[in-house]
Amino acid sequence: MSEKKGFSTRAIHVGQEPDPVTGSVAPPIHPTSTYAQEEIGKHKGYEYARVSNPTRTRLEQNLAALEGGSSAHVFASGMAATNAYVSMYAKAGDHVICGSNVYGGVPRMFNTVWANFGLEVSYVDTSVTENVQKALRKNTRFVWIETPTNPLMQLTDIAAVAKVARAHGAQLVVDNTFASPYFQKPIELGADVVMHSTTKFLNGHSDGLGGVLVGTTPDHAEKLAYIQKATGAIMSPFECWLVLRGVKTLAVRMEQHDVNGRKVAEFLKGQKKIKTVLYPGLKDHPQYELAKKQMKGFGSMITFDLGSQDNANKFLRRLKVCTLGESLGGVETLISHPATMTHAALGAEGRAAIGLTDGMVRISVGIEDVEDILADLEQGLAGV
Ligand SMILES: Cc1ncc(COP(=O)(O)O)c(C=O)c1O
Repeated sequence: MSEKKGFSTRAIHVGQEPDPVTGSVAPPIHPTSTYAQEEIGKHKGYEYARVSNPTRTRLEQNLAALEGGSSAHVFASGMAATNAYVSMYAKAGDHVICGSNVYGGVPRMFNTVWANFGLEVSYVDTSVTENVQKALRKNTRFVWIETPTNPLMQLTDIAAVAKVARAHGAQLVVDNTFASPYFQKPIELGADVVMHSTTKFLNGHSDGLGGVLVGTTPDHAEKLAYIQKATGAIMSPFECWLVLRGVKTLAVRMEQHDVNGRKVAEFLKGQKKIKTVLYPGLKDHPQYELAKKQMKGFGSMITFDLGSQDNANKFLRRLKVCTLGESLGGVETLISHPATMTHAALGAEGRAAIGLTDGMVRISVGIEDVEDILADLEQGLAGV
């Protein structure tokens, strides 16, 4: 299907064609480990399920089309995808730059896994492009960023950092999980690779784990397929199917997430018990102008500070519509406490260094009736 077709048309049709054998409108799930061959080397393009699977092929075609990349490869989780990229694009003695605020599992992986293999990592605040420029070294292979970041909602100017990285011969990888391809297109802005935890908005229903790397060159297509085969951390056919089903409604879900997100951010902003509200759609967000420039919507991820962990807990345990739990991007409102959940691995010092406090609460505003979400937040705040 042509690149020119609209976002939802691509989401609903690319890789989602009716099954040619039966006409089934929903794509079939192929839960097979292997494929029958007619004679040695004669098969229908599929040999062994770690290497490829028809349900997976469909999802990879779909996600490449949504991000505007030339290939996509899906993995068992967002972290498996991240690890797969690093495995193929860095080696002992190399240096990489990583945003100082990214999902806590990424620095945990660099510091406790890749450090053992001689990979050096510099953590920099990539919201200031000059910091990236200054951190580049001769052996810098890639720059890894998240925008907006988890959980501080900081933005990085993708086009500016892409230019700096490219001039140096380093790749730019953007974790686009928070914005989704509906609101942000890093490849159009110059990124080399886009990564997602498909566990979040792409799946959208909190019922499957996965990750994807969308590439832009034949080298990405070749190397990322190779790492699927060589190390095998692939997404299962059933979870591929769940994401194929989820992305069909991505546009309408994101529109509603955005409407609800803006209303919740405004409500939180007006509360005396809340110290700070971090949301790129608020006019006082330091990068509001950049958000308007590089994003088509602000989404539904908001972080706010209740002043202490005790206050956060008093608030969280009263909630009834909003669910306290790790993760985000589902149709239901999820609230988390980054200091003890997603960013626990950073340690108190690491969190203090980036300004992540114990009183911070991160909300992934769902698509329930917003009045019910607001009423729940209000009664939660009454307990603080
Ligand atoms: C922005 C972001 N990137 C990556 C990940 C890791 O993804 P997964 O949990 O699917 O491994 C997460 C998980 O919370 C995330 O929020």
